[in-house]
Amino acid sequence: MKLSHAIIEKNVLLLAVLSLITVSIGGLVQIVPLFTIETTIERVEGMRPYTPLELAGRNIYIREGCYTCHSQQVRTFRDEVERYGHYSLAAESMYDHPFQWGSKRTGPDLARVGGKYSNDWHVAHMINPRALVPESIMPGYPFLARKALRFDDMGAHLKANRAVGVPYTDEQIEQAVLDVRLQAGALPDGDTEALLARYPKAVLGDFDGDPNFVSEMDALVAYLQVLGTLVDFSNLNPEDLKQ
Ligand code: HEC
Repeated sequence: MKLSHAIIEKNVLLLAVLSLITVSIGGLVQIVPLFTIETTIERVEGMRPYTPLELAGRNIYIREGCYTCHSQQVRTFRDEVERYGHYSLAAESMYDHPFQWGSKRTGPDLARVGGKYSNDWHVAHMINPRALVPESIMPGYPFLARKALRFDDMGAHLKANRAVGVPYTDEQIEQAVLDVRLQAGALPDGDTEALLARYPKAVLGDFDGDPNFVSEMDALVAYLQVLGTLVDFSNLNPEDLKQ
């Protein structure tokens, strides 16, 4: 035994080949069992894909680089849970492509900001953060309220998300453009019940105060208002969440 080991240790090539084989076996043992399970994310009730308006808002969030100052992941530490609410679950970002977890917090975590403030608060805050939080160093985004949202291609955005695994149905893709107007209050006779059936808990409303104009602000606020609101944690048994 000792002699054979000496042979291996004195032969660089043999050592490299045998090390590679050993590491490969170790890797396979770790990786292969994962192929037998459908997903490593534990599903939770309530998660649904974003509405077209929320998705458009998310695109603006990414375009404006909000993630450079805001994370979207409540860590499992007590101080975080006490400040922001239940720690984030993997399932809560399963429809995010790409996810917005982030590691930079110049501003607070936004994973559970939905429902924390009114729509009006968000609009006023986005226009001029210092109007509401005098010491804020967040830049204002007043142009979002003036800029028309481009949503004629929302169907294609939903399709692109479907291509990477978000389960949008054909009906949702077909209705995408109408659903944007419906959620933003720009379709007064629209069937909001049908929208809510497609996307439970969607926050309907004319966020920027001008019903005939669907602005980028409408989309961004719709997105902020849904963050962290889909999973009802009061029904979750903490034991179920233990990994
Ligand atoms: C330069 C860093 C910075 C950028 C960029 C930034 N923020 Fe902020 N944000 C802050 C800071 C700091 C606060 C805390 C003070 C305040 O409420 O204004 C904050 C607060 C917030 C809040 C309130 C959170 C709470 O729980 O009170 C929201 C919502 C928000 N930001 C959204 C956004 C969005 C959306 C964008 C992109 C359009 C953005 N922020 C870009 C720094 C930033």
